[in-house]
Amino acid sequence: MSPLSLDPIAFQTPSAARTYRWEHDGSVSETDGVEGAATVVSLSDEAWADMTGQIRTFINLQLSGELTIDPGHFDQLAQWDPQLRLLHADIPIYDPAAVDLSAFDLERVFTLDDSDDDLRAFFTATGFLHVGGVFSEAEMAAANAEVDRLSVAAKPDDNQSWWVTDEQDNAVLCRLIYTTQRSDVLAALQCDPRTERLGTLLDRQLRSPADRMEGASVLIKVPGRTRGLSNIPWHQDCGMGGHAIICPSTAIGIQLNGSSPDTGHLRLVPGSHGQTLPYLWERQLHGVPVLAVNTEPGDVVLHVTDLMHASPEPTAGGGRRTMYVDFYPPALWDRVGPGEAFNDVVRSRTQEAAALRTPAP
Ligand SMILES: [Fe+2]
Repeated sequence: MSPLSLDPIAFQTPSAARTYRWEHDGSVSETDGVEGAATVVSLSDEAWADMTGQIRTFINLQLSGELTIDPGHFDQLAQWDPQLRLLHADIPIYDPAAVDLSAFDLERVFTLDDSDDDLRAFFTATGFLHVGGVFSEAEMAAANAEVDRLSVAAKPDDNQSWWVTDEQDNAVLCRLIYTTQRSDVLAALQCDPRTERLGTLLDRQLRSPADRMEGASVLIKVPGRTRGLSNIPWHQDCGMGGHAIICPSTAIGIQLNGSSPDTGHLRLVPGSHGQTLPYLWERQLHGVPVLAVNTEPGDVVLHVTDLMHASPEPTAGGGRRTMYVDFYPPALWDRVGPGEAFNDVVRSRTQEAAALRTPAP
């Protein structure tokens, strides 16, 4: 993408103001003050430090009501975000031409009989990994019975679940969180040596929390055109914040009942981890590989937390159930307390969050 359309943007805190400009030679310059800026963003010094330090994202700050944009619009800040992340944290901007995955069969389904070295080589290069037949039919049946039980007990605003609004204006459950605190069966899956093996492929130090970062969650895909965050647009799992603390870490998706287009499968951009994709990149970039991952019950799909991925609207009856067990670096436990998650800002504002990520018509 050429960012030539970027007009100057300024950030103003109580202690400083600076303006960024896209220069003709392709560089970004920074000057003091707000003069000449088409967009002026006002925020606290703490929010500015969080944003530039990759602790909280501009979307998190917007949803939290901690940004004022005047003059200008949110889209202009969103367009600038990749340039700012490059400038402040050296995070590259994704370029499909620069990612060569021709040595890998992206449709390959590994098994637990493959060596750690082979699994790691694929995972490190592509940012995802599909491992077939990790859990048995009986294990998945037991897990699904637990999801049924927890679903019946779930209520909107119980702080243990996410809900969307369906086409008939009913609130419908779309995610259970902190599940292993309420289910020994699901807790056993989280602590299972097979899960641990895959979750620590990137780094032996990674661990999976039960009591923070929403613990082990279960995604339940709702059919039809919903409002809220069941059909999740393209995102990175650090999209609300925490990149400096958690990335790269590993998200493990245990496929409780498999997945297909009908049930709402996972889509991802192989090789996009560790980089930023421009806002609304689908409209601006050509040649981006997009892979849909179809699975059987008992399969496991791993992805690096900051790999670009999405969960589109099911083409038929929906119902995919995926248990997510995320493995994080030890530093997470120093920075995020029990019951806390970067997603907390979204849970009660799913419709506002969805609107921020939805391309304007
Ligand atoms: Fe995600």
